[in-house]
Amino acid sequence: MEKQWWHSAVVYQVYPRSFCDSSGDGNGDLRGIISKLAYLEKLGINLIWLSPVYLSPMKDNGYDIADYQAIDPRFGSLNDLRELIATARQHHIGIIMDLVLNHSSDQHHWFQQAKQSLDNPYRDYYIWRDQPNSLRSIFGGPAWNYDATTDQYYFHLFADSQPDLNWENTQVEKEIQQMISWWVAQGVAGFRLDVIDLIGKQIDQGITENGPRLHPLLQQLHQACFANHNLVTVGETWGATPEIAKRYSDPAREELSMVFQFEHAALDWHPQHGKWQTQKFDLVALKRVLSKWQTAFQGDGWNALFWNNHDLPRIVSRWGNDRQYRQRSAKLFATLLHGMQGTPYIYQGEEIGMTNVRFEHLDDYQDIEIKNSYQEKVLEQQSLSHQQFMQGVYASARDNARTPMQWDNLPHAGFSKVQPWLAVNPNYPEVNVSKALQNPHSVFYHYQRLIALRKSADYGEILIYGSFELLLPEHPQVFAYLRRYQQQALLVVTNLSEQAVAVSLDYQIKALILNNLQQDEAQISHLQGLSLAPYQALLYALDTTN
Ligand code: GLC
Repeated sequence: MEKQWWHSAVVYQVYPRSFCDSSGDGNGDLRGIISKLAYLEKLGINLIWLSPVYLSPMKDNGYDIADYQAIDPRFGSLNDLRELIATARQHHIGIIMDLVLNHSSDQHHWFQQAKQSLDNPYRDYYIWRDQPNSLRSIFGGPAWNYDATTDQYYFHLFADSQPDLNWENTQVEKEIQQMISWWVAQGVAGFRLDVIDLIGKQIDQGITENGPRLHPLLQQLHQACFANHNLVTVGETWGATPEIAKRYSDPAREELSMVFQFEHAALDWHPQHGKWQTQKFDLVALKRVLSKWQTAFQGDGWNALFWNNHDLPRIVSRWGNDRQYRQRSAKLFATLLHGMQGTPYIYQGEEIGMTNVRFEHLDDYQDIEIKNSYQEKVLEQQSLSHQQFMQGVYASARDNARTPMQWDNLPHAGFSKVQPWLAVNPNYPEVNVSKALQNPHSVFYHYQRLIALRKSADYGEILIYGSFELLLPEHPQVFAYLRRYQQQALLVVTNLSEQAVAVSLDYQIKALILNNLQQDEAQISHLQGLSLAPYQALLYALDTTN
């Protein structure tokens, strides 16, 4: 496979509203991000995926865009963004913009025009019908909203304030392409494409995901905007199987660099209630899913690796142990992910082991998905009780990831001088960047080492291009795998349980590269009868001479 610069990159996602507030209004902003670039460079990342900072009424925190070429004043100005791009470059960091192309905000001037009359030139930028069909919104409720002025319904797969754009209209396609090319000219390094698998939809057939026009549209987008710019592009594709992921990321097809697949991320969701009722963590299933993806591509696709993002609960609380073993299990998940093949993504705060939050009242939460789903599941359908729903919120709600970044132990965790838009996790005196930087054994330095390994002359190639082989697939506590590249081999072996466990693996060790426990190395120089402490994670170089 032809090597690409982004194969060896590590991406860090910034959720701007919650990262760092420099202006003192309780919302994070662009100048706040600029002030933390040295910190991100120290961590070692190469790219920032910047969640939306465009003009927005913030019903969905910026994933509802009112102007694709203007910055929301909460975040700063276009000049601030230009400064972020330029300053980040000095820190050897590129900026990935987030493109929300499936829908806009209802405040976008296209929609403001469109809803005025049936023959408005922008009418056809959105999707209108005389009668709604049975399609449902992903945030709860019907996917159609009645508009009294024109006596028609418009279509929205998310909130009713997020009308879906009509990609059947080539004028929409053209406008979007021009907008993206303008961003390319601003010097960005690439794009993340929000819920991109929804743009090829055929509503009257009830097809929303992976519709027939999806891949032709992406090829046209590539041709018009991405080709010859050496960009990195990553699509958010909840409905991707490995076969589908190849269609996006096979270099020969010229669509995207890679996609986020969510098979592992939805593993513990309930068949009926989804994320609002989680099921027991099944390690064997997680191993099966991830190893399927690790072995899916033979140069005809590329993996994006992640545990967290702004839509998912914190991994250390979800499948680790955020109490007694918080630091250790955070490092374990880091080792597992960064040992794999693909481009790793870190979500802000993951690198210090930030955890989920438990606010007492529903009103303490801000997320529109929580509010709309509560309305649907608890109030209308009564399929979940208030208590059951709150358990779902504690386990899976998106606000778990969105509480402000914990910089230090000052009020509001050093995120802001005033009460933030969403309350800080009360554990900030214990879990914060300042504390992590002072402790050489912190989660932060573990991430730093993992990133450095991926860049190292000794282990970079094998981590990036090595093959993957799952070991002990049925073991209920241990997640272990091999990576091989030319004459080299690495072994990752981890214990995802609170009990010590012994495993026997028949390999010769060359070196112990990384251990998430401070431990006497002599104890673990043999792999026959290897004893793993609770949540221990080890990374070895193997001796492959015989
Ligand atoms: C994506 C975003 C999510 C947003 C949704 C609608 O899933 O990641 O935050 O709410 O799209 O734009």
